[in-house]
Amino acid sequence: MMAETFDAKAAMADYRTAFEGGCADFLSRYPDSELYAPVRYLMALGGKRLRPVLVMAACEACGGTKEQALPAALAVELFHNFTLMHDDIMDEAPLRRGQATVHEKWDDNLAILSGDALHVMACEALLDAPADALPSLLRMYHRTALEVCEGQEQDMAFETRNTVALEEYMEMIRLKTSVLLAAALDMGGGSAGADDATREALYEFGLHVGLAFQLQDDYLDAFGNPENFGKQVGGDILADKKTFLLIRALEKAQGADLDALQTELGSKREGKVERVLDLYRRLGVDAELRDAMAGQVALAEGALARMKAARPDALAGSEGALALLHGVAKMVTARLN
Ligand code: IPE
Ligand code: IPE
Ligand code: MG
Ligand code: MG
Ligand code: MG
Repeated sequence: MMAETFDAKAAMADYRTAFEGGCADFLSRYPDSELYAPVRYLMALGGKRLRPVLVMAACEACGGTKEQALPAALAVELFHNFTLMHDDIMDEAPLRRGQATVHEKWDDNLAILSGDALHVMACEALLDAPADALPSLLRMYHRTALEVCEGQEQDMAFETRNTVALEEYMEMIRLKTSVLLAAALDMGGGSAGADDATREALYEFGLHVGLAFQLQDDYLDAFGNPENFGKQVGGDILADKKTFLLIRALEKAQGADLDALQTELGSKREGKVERVLDLYRRLGVDAELRDAMAGQVALAEGALARMKAARPDALAGSEGALALLHGVAKMVTARLN
């Protein structure tokens, strides 16, 4: 398991290098003015580049090339960075990728505007995709962009609700996070000219990887190591985000524990994060989250396995790329600190 994880990481680095070159060229098309300074800042902070790697790997798994995939890879990564710039305003987050967030370094207004510019830039990047694939890529991109907004709206609305059902949470994270990973895979396949059934299987794989990914993000927000998390640990607890952990804790806690948890909601009293983390551990919701995440990874693997069994000729492009897709799913469950 460790060796597989390590290999996937090495393979990801190759895709990332290919992406960075194309990304630098793309950004050089834009003026060196104040509007674009936060764009360049956030893009230069990097991040894992998971989504563009998925676009390129899916494209190669379907017999295409990284070059063919670059417009879609740029589109999803620029769109992702746009959502982060606005998400950090909404979440009042001080840190992103280990550095000050855009609205902290500049101000809210510039973060809003530069985010808007990023979104338009993402659409512009996509216009360079292979002409045959472009209509379906644009359709997928725009549907996904709206779904992410729907998910973000639900995420914010849940903050002030007393109870949220686990099914509502799963739907919220499907929208705010999973659909973009799913779209990355679909658009990679589409850039290679893959047929609809193959693209649908890639999409389903991505949805489950995305659900596992957001569960992991919630876990790390609570239990991550501040030295390498790159974001404020405990931010979700301070904002009363209805994460898997909080929802299950509210469902499981009884008596004094439930009172204690409810007293923390809506308050920002000193020591809130530590007290809530204590309750999470005592109630065992951290272990439940890890199980839920592993369940989603298994569902993701199942989607690819069914596709391979039904259609051995599909996903028959680069074997390394297919191995990377499997590796990425495993990596999500491996990183828990
Ligand atoms: C953060 O995404 C937002 C979520 C959907 C959890 P990533 O964890 O992929 O962020 P970067 O791009 O690597 O910084
Ligand atoms: C991220 O959710 C979803 C989007 C940015 C669309 P989070 O708010 O959990 O992401 P992080 O933790 O700030 O990266
Ligand atoms: Mg958020
Ligand atoms: Mg956030
Ligand atoms: Mg988060």
